[in-house]
Amino acid sequence: MKISQKTIDEIFGAAIIEEVISDFVDLKKRGANYKGLSPFNEEKTPSFVVSPSKEIWKDFSSGKGGNLISFLMEHEQFSYPESLLYLAKKYNITVEYIDINPDEKKKDNHRESTLIVMNYVKQIFADDLFGSNSKALDYLNNRGINNEIVKLFELGFCPKKQLKLVDQIKSAGYNEKYLHDTRIVNKNGTNRFLDRLIFPIHSISGQVVGFGARVLSDVLKSPKYLNSDTSEIYQKSKVLYGLNFSKKYIKKEDVCYLVEGYTDVIAMFQANIKNVVATCGTALTKEQVRLVKRFTNNIVIIFDSDSAGVSASLKAIDLFLEQDINPEVIQLPTGEDPASFCGQKSTETIKQFFLEHKTNFIEFKCSLNVSDASSDLIKHVKNIIYSISLIHDNIMQAIYIKKAAKKFSLQEEDIRKELNRLAKKTPLTSSRNLNDNTNKQIDFKKLKKNNLEEFRLIRLFINYGSSNIVLPDGTFQTISRFIINELDSDNIGFTTPIFDTLYQEIKKNITIIESQNNDFFLSHSNLIIVELASYIIADQPFLGNWSRKDIVVREEKDLLSQVAKESILRFKLKRVQSMRKNALEKLKNPNASVDNDLTTFTQLNQLEKKIQKELGRIC
Ligand code: GTP
Ligand code: MN
Repeated sequence: MKISQKTIDEIFGAAIIEEVISDFVDLKKRGANYKGLSPFNEEKTPSFVVSPSKEIWKDFSSGKGGNLISFLMEHEQFSYPESLLYLAKKYNITVEYIDINPDEKKKDNHRESTLIVMNYVKQIFADDLFGSNSKALDYLNNRGINNEIVKLFELGFCPKKQLKLVDQIKSAGYNEKYLHDTRIVNKNGTNRFLDRLIFPIHSISGQVVGFGARVLSDVLKSPKYLNSDTSEIYQKSKVLYGLNFSKKYIKKEDVCYLVEGYTDVIAMFQANIKNVVATCGTALTKEQVRLVKRFTNNIVIIFDSDSAGVSASLKAIDLFLEQDINPEVIQLPTGEDPASFCGQKSTETIKQFFLEHKTNFIEFKCSLNVSDASSDLIKHVKNIIYSISLIHDNIMQAIYIKKAAKKFSLQEEDIRKELNRLAKKTPLTSSRNLNDNTNKQIDFKKLKKNNLEEFRLIRLFINYGSSNIVLPDGTFQTISRFIINELDSDNIGFTTPIFDTLYQEIKKNITIIESQNNDFFLSHSNLIIVELASYIIADQPFLGNWSRKDIVVREEKDLLSQVAKESILRFKLKRVQSMRKNALEKLKNPNASVDNDLTTFTQLNQLEKKIQKELGRIC
């Protein structure tokens, strides 16, 4: 299944670029454009520009740019379909899916189908929560959770007497295997979460990727929570519960509360403390830390006040320090977790308590160690210095060295000595390299630089593919067709793989491209094409010599005909030059059949001169 073109068109029609981006960047109107601080780099003067008329953004500090889809992909790390679904949700557009022919069915579609089924099931659960005789809703209300929050978090219920999900899914036209793969139903097809409260787990883009299901009564012997299984769309270690709701608050407040459970997030949200996420039963992972780091460098850990909570806090602290995130800890009164603690209190009371009880990690570790025995003390201090050694940021490390020195009445120098010793013992691992892109990014700038002639033609296809130019005989032809004819007449194509892929797509879909603007590329199912198109649209116009000739620089589109001709000639010239070079190499070979090779070489030489001359006439 894939999102229909109709839906894609609707999304592109409805979405307003400055509206979408201002959910993430504070934009101010500056003339025809909007400006803001780069969300990709630290900066003091705004260099991030959004152009509503061109429907593009450009970040001058990082060189990145593109359309609104590429912004979401870049900023939120969404996939292309995820970006579309995000926008559909934002603009209340009903997403229509279509079946695609079998040879197009790839892994991607399995993922998308799982998403669709999950979100469908979520709705069934939610409807049942608000259905008649909902003891689940009563349960939530009794715990002080109001319906507004229930709706926001899309909580649900799976009643005992519920129809089989398998049947519902099948009659809605979906494949039941997704229910089995994610173990929302048992092997025999019965519902696995019977009589449980359902907490949908959302991806960072707000799509439901899994479920947590809680018993309604704590006396039962069965596990308190059951979870849907790991799937292509849901890996526990890479999700933080609540982040889709809280990320904008985390960014705004520049701090994130980390709690343990679903109910903790929900209760804090209701108490109007919305910059909060939960790990949900798993030990904090590096991936989760990186997720947080996209929004803030400050974390406040508020785990349950039991021994499990304390030891989880200690592990979390080191993980955060390793990523240069500043961890602080709040310890709740005995027997409390954030949900119970925040339950009946006003926002002010809670915030006041947090303020008074927030400690840095050194204080927190000290509060756990009350022993006066000197051997314990040494171990304890070393343990804290070990944590400090994990910090990579020099300033942050220096601050903690100062704090520790003061706390234990030690010389800073002694602490540094111990740090040096530790550094020698544990050679720097690559564990924290934030730039180890697992999803390989193409360096478009380099691609452009190394293949400029090919890049220029691709630019014309994407930016002006449907524009007409006038031919010498007075007839019109689209730029796309003009270039294809020119290249076909010499029987040449593109040599760079990504450009060749795109060129083949263009040839195959030439009639669509001739009738549309660049939507064809921006809504293509091949993500690389989308990214390339986004990059090109945001790229500076190429005016070459034209800008120098005109006193008032004319718009590129007014010069299309000349720019196209020049680009084609340069493309050919480059090809001829490389062929001539090859021919020359061959001639140097002592075994060369000189006659043939010499003829080829001479012909290429002449061809090159001819093209040069033509170029001279145009430019
Ligand atoms: P309430 O007791 O309803 O307030 O829920 P809680 O979120 O406070 O639960 P608890 O503090 O016991 O556990 C924290 C988190 O650990 C939960 O939100 C779950 O994500 C997870 N968890 C707890 N118990 C289980 C369990 O039995 N199985 C699984 N898979 N996860 C659990
Ligand atoms: Mn709890």
